[in-house]
Amino acid sequence: EQTDSRPPLQILLAAPRGFCAGVDRAIKIVELALEQHGAPVYVRHEIVHNKFVVDSLRAKGAIFVDELNEVPSGAHVIFSAHGVPKSVPLDAQDRGLDYLDATCPLVSKVHRQAERQVETGRHILFIGHSGHPEVVGTFGQVPEGSMTLIETVADAENVAPADTERLAYLTQTTLSVDDTHDIVSTLEQRFPNIVAPKGEDICYATSNRQAAVKAIADKCQLVLVIGAPNSSNSLRLVEVAERCGTKSYLVQRAEDIDFDWFNGVETLGITAGASAPEVLVRQFIARISENFAVNEQQVVTAEESITFKLPRGLSETVSA
Ligand code: F3S
Repeated sequence: EQTDSRPPLQILLAAPRGFCAGVDRAIKIVELALEQHGAPVYVRHEIVHNKFVVDSLRAKGAIFVDELNEVPSGAHVIFSAHGVPKSVPLDAQDRGLDYLDATCPLVSKVHRQAERQVETGRHILFIGHSGHPEVVGTFGQVPEGSMTLIETVADAENVAPADTERLAYLTQTTLSVDDTHDIVSTLEQRFPNIVAPKGEDICYATSNRQAAVKAIADKCQLVLVIGAPNSSNSLRLVEVAERCGTKSYLVQRAEDIDFDWFNGVETLGITAGASAPEVLVRQFIARISENFAVNEQQVVTAEESITFKLPRGLSETVSA
């Protein structure tokens, strides 16, 4: 009889983790467009922030571009889940491009609120991360100068709007729930009449994934977050784990695991950002199992059943 020489390792899998409804929908839009129109289909920006997803769509005939001027006239183009400035669909129309918008409906909801607040004469303080495509897209919904970016509590303390009575705040969908709370409290203290968004702008998937990693982090000596370095919600998961006092790394692929990290680790936590597919989680566990006798346990903090409708004109086809 062979004895297992691998040391034991307990793995706690945070749930929910991985794909959210907006990412699932965006990927489906590209796949269905490829089925219905044939390759190539152009996609402006990474459809979602995950290399594995982007590479597999590229293999099926998607071509990823930074700007619309790289798309030949008459071609089909899809806008990414993060949303686009208003100028982008207008440009596409001007150029006679056939476009599909894969903007997550929860991002579109923030876009419409931004428009409405500006229409009622309010200046918007927008809580988000500079340069993120979602922020670029949301700023592009309103005339220049009608929105100010707030990234930190210090920004909230120092911002000096012209009219402190006519203010609203909105947020990026993938922020840290805790940091945003601190920024909002600062704003509300300084500007008691500031109008809050209807419901939360931070989306259900972001807050559920943060709560789920919080539930496992203090039982673990290490938490691996599967996700991309440009994925806002994945970076936030690393921060949440670290604030629980647990070492945490963002890792893109199973090959990137460094087993030196595992010294002294008896319980390992794993989660995945909203753009990371479950197949990557399985690859991670398979690689870890080469070195450890793994005992896997899922820790569920919420059930998710939300799905989003596909855009009109893109029927879900049944492939043979
Ligand atoms: Fe949408 Fe939230 Fe996912 S805004 S794309 S459901 S992370």
